[in-house]
Amino acid sequence: MDYKSIITSNINVACQALGAVAGAVEVPPNPEMGDVAFPCFSLAKTLRKAPPLIAKDVKELICQNATADFTQAVDRVETVGGYVNFFVKKSSLISGVIDEINNAEEDYGRMNEGDGKTVLVEFSSPNIAKPFHVGHLVSTALGSSLERIYRFLGYKTVKINHIGDWGTQFGKLISAYKHWGDRGVIEKDPINELLKIYVRFHKEAEEKPELEDEARHYFKLLEDGDKEVTELWQFFVSASLTEFNRMYRLLGISFDSYAGESFYTDKMPEIVNILKEKNLLEESDGAMVVRFEDDNMPPCIILKSDGTTIYATRDIAAAVYRKRHYDFYKNIYVVGTPQTLHFKQVFSVIGKMGFDWADNCVHVDFGYVRFPDKSMSTRHGDVILLEDLLNMSISKTKEIIAASSTSKDIDNIDELAQKIGVGAVIFAFLKNSRERDIIFTWDDILDFEGESGPYVQYAYARGKSILRKASEMPAESGDSVYEPTNEEFELAKLLNDYSGVVQDAAAKNQPCIITRYTLAVAAAFNKFYNTCNIMKSTGITRTKRIELTNAMCCVIKSALHLIGVDVVEKM
Ligand code: ARG
Repeated sequence: MDYKSIITSNINVACQALGAVAGAVEVPPNPEMGDVAFPCFSLAKTLRKAPPLIAKDVKELICQNATADFTQAVDRVETVGGYVNFFVKKSSLISGVIDEINNAEEDYGRMNEGDGKTVLVEFSSPNIAKPFHVGHLVSTALGSSLERIYRFLGYKTVKINHIGDWGTQFGKLISAYKHWGDRGVIEKDPINELLKIYVRFHKEAEEKPELEDEARHYFKLLEDGDKEVTELWQFFVSASLTEFNRMYRLLGISFDSYAGESFYTDKMPEIVNILKEKNLLEESDGAMVVRFEDDNMPPCIILKSDGTTIYATRDIAAAVYRKRHYDFYKNIYVVGTPQTLHFKQVFSVIGKMGFDWADNCVHVDFGYVRFPDKSMSTRHGDVILLEDLLNMSISKTKEIIAASSTSKDIDNIDELAQKIGVGAVIFAFLKNSRERDIIFTWDDILDFEGESGPYVQYAYARGKSILRKASEMPAESGDSVYEPTNEEFELAKLLNDYSGVVQDAAAKNQPCIITRYTLAVAAAFNKFYNTCNIMKSTGITRTKRIELTNAMCCVIKSALHLIGVDVVEKM
């Protein structure tokens, strides 16, 4: 029930009658002041009247001319000082929300604002033969969530993994492999072993600079499509992908496209030609660059002095390809803050090329992950491997469950620990505004009573346990009138907000808006659960409370799914 719009439109009519334009409504800080408040202060000037008097006039007009849906939704209207406060009818709001949710089930809150529009979400994008580090995990969690959010709102979505599979470093890797590589060893532990020989290459090249020439030679062969060198490169790519896919499986994530940087190699000459035709290329120390009017923005290098293309060139080619291939409405890149300048340059070059859709390209950036816990350093020194992190979370969760008093009722502890452990990490990454750094400590992440994934999962599991018990209880006569408590009403109001919350998260590209919403719903449910004895209530009261519990479970499950966290039925 959209009581806010109902109230707003009645306010607008009243204000019009008074000869003024209504400002925005507010949500009062506490429920005693109503569910919606209309401040009259800004009307004082136009109407030449004190706000408290205006509030009285507005109230009177609204009560005289109330629309039918207003009368149905609003219990009473009061004025306090310069405010008009509206109190929603508790039982009709609760019943309306419950019915809507329990009919629509997992479709509750879905929208069609995206009908006919395609949103591309590029995320994760790790580099071949390099560790999948924690920044890639944040990108993976954020991007996957955004894709689900847009899909929920009716957009057609495409998940793209822009794998880092091209560049001069592959010449070095091939050279290193030729000297010290062993296929069998690499197959067993691809990324670590490839990294080892790559590091060795750099060390040895300090003494033997001819290695660098050899690497350049190999990269040239790769660019020219030499059969043997290409076959080797393919082996590195597929061995690395096997490893990445293991982690994507653990996270429950898949992609629609793995078109990485190499995919665009043959699409770059056209880009260079367009830039030349439009007179956008200038020479600078032998390289070809595009300059910007904005002095704060360094030029974007398109061709290096040896004529090879770079990262930015490939991104420009990729964007042009994506526009042609998908005709996107929005083209989103989920990549860390350090690449902000890169994307500014790339989007500006695209704009200069005359493509007005440059404005529909969005860099969704995010901060760093900080690890105050000493125990988090791993065999790579400061680089924390994603898989280690997830496995650590799973095993710590297992310890917590095993130590809890209810652990004997749980028969699938491994599956449970995986859902809770992985969910806890994702939840932590998506809890705050993405631009902020993430401070990662186990105490917070696995705090079952704090602002954590397990806390929300627990509210769901508790709701499910009530529903199981309720289904076994005989129907009982008793209360014939439903008089809801504030706790039930506050929970229902939150559930009523769901689709607006998802829309807001999409508009700002901020999954944290949904994460924080799940925390609020779980807290409201716990309050309701602790103050209203669901099982001891009777008649219509019990029925409504059980239905409200079911509605809460539907919404939590749906919202957690949007951030990429699974629910568990028991915990
Ligand atoms: N592979 C890059 C990295 O690990 C991220 C790629 C971001 N996407 C892009 N279109 N440039 O830093």
